[in-house]
Amino acid sequence: MARRKRMADLTVLGTGAMLPSRTMTNMDLEKLVDTSDEWITARTGIKTRRVAGPGEHTSELAVGAARKALDMAGVSADALHMIIVATITPEVTMPSCACLVQDRLGASQACAFDLSAACSGFLYGLDVAAQYVRNDPAKKILVIGAETLSARVDWQDRNTCILFGDGAGAAVVSGSEDPRSYFATELKVDGSLGPLLSMHAAPSRNPEIAFDDNDGSYIRMNGREVFRHAVRSMETAIHDLLQREHIAMTDIDLFIPHQANIRILNQVRERFVIPEDKVYLNVSKYGNTSAASVPIALDEANRAGRISRGDLLLFCTFGGGFTWGAGLLRW
Ligand code: ACO
Repeated sequence: MARRKRMADLTVLGTGAMLPSRTMTNMDLEKLVDTSDEWITARTGIKTRRVAGPGEHTSELAVGAARKALDMAGVSADALHMIIVATITPEVTMPSCACLVQDRLGASQACAFDLSAACSGFLYGLDVAAQYVRNDPAKKILVIGAETLSARVDWQDRNTCILFGDGAGAAVVSGSEDPRSYFATELKVDGSLGPLLSMHAAPSRNPEIAFDDNDGSYIRMNGREVFRHAVRSMETAIHDLLQREHIAMTDIDLFIPHQANIRILNQVRERFVIPEDKVYLNVSKYGNTSAASVPIALDEANRAGRISRGDLLLFCTFGGGFTWGAGLLRW
């Protein structure tokens, strides 16, 4: 993870995202649990989230995001060396979501595997990809974050069901010999804190399973403790990474955090005195999409023209495990 200057480093060739078509508003949630738009907005900043319907399994969302990223990159699926799908909600345990994606894309030369690091999964995936492309810059790797958490939340638990949404984001990465190319991470885990945010095994292929027959394997969370650890861990990871890499916060052009909760993100932003216009936020629209959150935000920022060649991006994540981290990427 510690970065030494290399001949080649990771670069992003294209990004993509895919969201389910159905939008669920806070008012819709008022009909399911004892809550209010006002409470949810004030405590989380979330107004709407997307919820997968029939045929919108995790792999379908992943394939949709991947196709857009490949298209932007101008890379054909059969040129891919590897597919990494960061997810904690594959629709089946075996074959992996990455295998389903490989098949649907026709990525005949790729190896493929799922990566489980909850909300931190996409950043972990980029870090794995970086190890490959630094050794062989010609390699093209597809890194996806994809989730259908709606199938795994208890829609009668107001503590959790208001927070999450479904979606997928993807990036095609490669190595660049450009001496300005630069990617560095600070990745962490503390498994002893796992019980504070957990989800026991269950399939998520049919959303109906979650509504009718889920055996209790829902997301369970100690919200206050998660909040406390999330703020502290993100702050520490960012601080340690910037210090190690001799980079000042004023050098950052755009901060793209895991979109968990506006209050968590405001605390992190205030701690480092980051101007609001340097933070990319879409949590109000999509809620917390776990591993999909950073790549969806990255793709939106990219397509909105918020990122220019040479910009320095800062990522930070926190999620179940607990896993967390920060990342720096020269665009
Ligand atoms: N609507 C109305 N009232 C609610 C709701 C709701 N949806 N949920 C909880 N409440 C009530 C509680 O029952 C409690 O009532 P009581 O005082 O009568 O007992 C009251 O609101 C306060 O509850 P708290 O849990 O103390 O509320 P808090 O201010 O901590 O907010 C929240 C809860 C929003 C979950 C917050 O703790 C949080 O954001 N935690 C982080 C969770 C998170 O982001 N998880 C995602 C995974 S990890 C990650 O991505 C970072």
